[in-house]
Amino acid sequence: MNSLVIGQLRLDGNLILAPMSGVTNLPSRLLCKKYGASLVYSEMTSSEAIIRQNPKSIERGSTCEGERPMGIQLMGSVPANLTASALFLQERYRPELIDVNFGCPAQSVIKNGCGSELLKKPELIGEILKSLSDSLDIPVTAKIRILGDFDETLRIARIIEKSGADAITVHGRTQKQGYSGKCNLDFIKKIKSELSIPVIANGDVCDEKTAKQIIEYTNCDGLMIGRAAIGNPFIFTKISHFLKTGEILPPQEIEDRLADFFDYMELCRKYGMLTYNDIKRNAQWFTKGMENVKPIRVKINKTEDIDSIIGILKDILRS
Ligand SMILES: Cc1cc2nc3c(=O)[nH]c(=O)nc-3n(C[C@H](O)[C@H](O)[C@H](O)COP(=O)(O)O)c2cc1C
Repeated sequence: MNSLVIGQLRLDGNLILAPMSGVTNLPSRLLCKKYGASLVYSEMTSSEAIIRQNPKSIERGSTCEGERPMGIQLMGSVPANLTASALFLQERYRPELIDVNFGCPAQSVIKNGCGSELLKKPELIGEILKSLSDSLDIPVTAKIRILGDFDETLRIARIIEKSGADAITVHGRTQKQGYSGKCNLDFIKKIKSELSIPVIANGDVCDEKTAKQIIEYTNCDGLMIGRAAIGNPFIFTKISHFLKTGEILPPQEIEDRLADFFDYMELCRKYGMLTYNDIKRNAQWFTKGMENVKPIRVKINKTEDIDSIIGILKDILRS
């Protein structure tokens, strides 16, 4: 497997877990690490909330030795505040890198001029990244979406490179597309061919074959995997095995998937992150695609506490 070098950071491979709000907390990142993710990113956290010392936002950066290397993703639009919050997080958690979100299409984010809204202000993107890369000791990366126009997308990518970013992730969809429609691999491929910093392709990896196709077609340095890893951390093993050997591993046994779910739950307990709503969501994700799962999912939906969810999943193991 290819290794990926981001600034002074050398990764053991090039498969990366995407930052996902409400999904990539520390326990889920640890599971992806266990199955071979080379780098994991935190959920995005708001620089303004870090400046206000909001405990929940600060907590999003929390890490442990077992998941290193890891990156913390920041969202914001004021260069000085992004830099101050990155310096705070660098000191507090010692992440291996800081990423800036220039891709989020959510209304709550773009109405404040953050996330993908910043793609309309390329010079401000440049200021943000320059300020960060001049101030931090660790690498800085940027995650963007594409625009409808290729030349404008490339202009932004070049500004990102020139401002001192050590790598760029390109999600091949526009803000308007949200998460639907096809990912534009041609834009990603052309951006890769024009830049010297590592380019990480993102969007629509759903299994080992799509992973291979995207990495080969775009010639990118790394591959970022989002939705396909939700409730399915084993996908990292499947993809890396396929890229190395050309062989498709059999799907995980039900027992192993449920064991992953129970590991997730124990990690949540260990790190003080155990909540009913999160466990319920994860129980649905970790059972997705299993045979005859519909009645189980209905039962999980009707539960009111974690013990009932555990009971339902243990019944699967007994049946
Ligand atoms: C539930 C969810 C939450 C997300 N949260 C973030 C986020 O916090 N930061 C970010 O840069 N992208 C976020 N994304 C976008 C993903 O990182 C990724 O770019 C996108 O899902 C496309 O990759 P995929 O096709 O592999 O899922 C999120 C996506 C989903 C589905």
